[in-house]
Amino acid sequence: MPMLRFTSKDQATEIEIRVAGGSELLAIQRKNPELPLKFGCCHGECGTCAIEVLQGSQNLSKCSQQELLTLKKKGLSGNHRLACQCALNGDVTIARP
Ligand code: FES
Repeated sequence: MPMLRFTSKDQATEIEIRVAGGSELLAIQRKNPELPLKFGCCHGECGTCAIEVLQGSQNLSKCSQQELLTLKKKGLSGNHRLACQCALNGDVTIARP
């Protein structure tokens, strides 16, 4: 089972959650409200759910064209993703940008 790790930039918050393979971050957050992710549209359009992937980006589902477009509009690239568009297939460490 993949491990989702969330760390805040100041490392004051560290959360580890073991999840079923293929779990979507949106569903994980709904089951674990202590996970400090924010969601808006949930369709990859608003960018509210942007996260920084610190480790394990290869273990996330592929980035769609819509997600790339939204990240570009928000001025985010590289290791950023939209949480509402991600499912976990392995261990991942994330932070809020
Ligand atoms: S919640 Fe709007 S892009 Fe993810």
